[in-house]
Amino acid sequence: MQIKMIAAVVALVMAGSVSAAVRDEPIQPLPQPKVTSQAKADLGKKLFFDPRLSRSGFISCNSCHNLSMGGTDNLKTSIGHNWQEGPINSPTVLNSSLSVAQFWDGRAADLKQQAGGPVANPKEMASSHDLAVQVLQSIPGYVAEFKAVYGSDKVDIDKVTDAIAEFENTLVTPDSRFDLWLKGDDKALSAGELAGYKLFKDSGCVACHNGPAAGGTSFQKMGLVEAYTTTNTAEGRVGVTGKDADRFNFKVPTLRNVELTYPYFHDGQAETLEQAVELMGRLQLGRKFTADEVGSIVSFLKTLTGKQPQFGLPLLPPSVNATPRPEPFAKK
Ligand code: HEC
Ligand code: HEC
Repeated sequence: MQIKMIAAVVALVMAGSVSAAVRDEPIQPLPQPKVTSQAKADLGKKLFFDPRLSRSGFISCNSCHNLSMGGTDNLKTSIGHNWQEGPINSPTVLNSSLSVAQFWDGRAADLKQQAGGPVANPKEMASSHDLAVQVLQSIPGYVAEFKAVYGSDKVDIDKVTDAIAEFENTLVTPDSRFDLWLKGDDKALSAGELAGYKLFKDSGCVACHNGPAAGGTSFQKMGLVEAYTTTNTAEGRVGVTGKDADRFNFKVPTLRNVELTYPYFHDGQAETLEQAVELMGRLQLGRKFTADEVGSIVSFLKTLTGKQPQFGLPLLPPSVNATPRPEPFAKK
């Protein structure tokens, strides 16, 4: 009886101290990844890594969103089918489930809607939904898995994108040092990193980079105080809303894992985090940071690198004789 009471008191005290410890800041700790169906996420993982969703049989989602490199390709703009030069920088898929919408201009409402795009985009995977489905439907290993997850052995693009989205929901990167600090661990950040966070906050960066992902919560003008010069032709949100006020508004990118996701901005123009921070200060806030101030903010940004998704490489079921063959090279 007494032991039970002591345990209850200890539990109460601990619960109290844990909830009180989460600091009240404009950036909140990332949640642990949520999985509603492990089988569906596993299927989605295979599809994410399967180059047979592309016409060449060579490009998978992971080609441009490499999960060994922060969910990006670390290129200025991506390389698509036939080595085509992509129009825009590939954003990370890490924590993208937390964004208000998908793509730089937010033209896809959610991850499921997004996932259909690249498969049929002639500049990316250059297949078609019909062909991708035909490929998967021909592979007995996949058909069995779709049956187990969806209760039907009819593969369709809706199930494909649903499974990929479920996998992407698992790509959350909690437990960065900044998160440990947010949760009350005073020793998780050095004095310099903490000063960098203070400068980030006090300068007004958090007006746009806020929430658990330190971004992804709104669309904002690139070049608010001072115009941004670029040769890239992307115009941002106006393409979706048709409103002139949305010209050059882009989704505020997440700063989670930003140390890994270089180069920066929709055009990939900033090669280093220092350049990106210097430009943000000047263009968005009219603030000219000294090199020391830039270094200080950069040291804070590097504390946002979280626990990366780790798993065994998915083994993909083999094609069979009836599987449509890839076309890796342009027809002469
Ligand atoms: C050839 C390179 C390439 C391939 C292959 C590719 N993507 Fe992308 N992805 C991009 C680029 C570039 C963008 C940004 C496009 C834009 O915003 O207009 C993007 C955007 C995204 C986004 C939105 C992220 C955000 O923050 O807005 C998600 C999610 C995503 N891709 C997932 C996928 C999935 C799933 C696949 C496979 C079915 C895939 N991508 C295949 C290059 C690629
Ligand atoms: C008015 C809103 C706003 C403010 C304030 C702001 N940002 Fe940004 N930030 C953006 C937008 C929008 C982008 C994407 C711009 C683009 O790609 O064209 C961005 C991009 C970035 C990137 C590049 C991320 C990537 O993956 O490409 C970094 C780093 C960054 N901001 C840091 C900062 C810092 C540091 C501050 C404060 C000095 C700051 N931002 C202030 C809106 C803002």
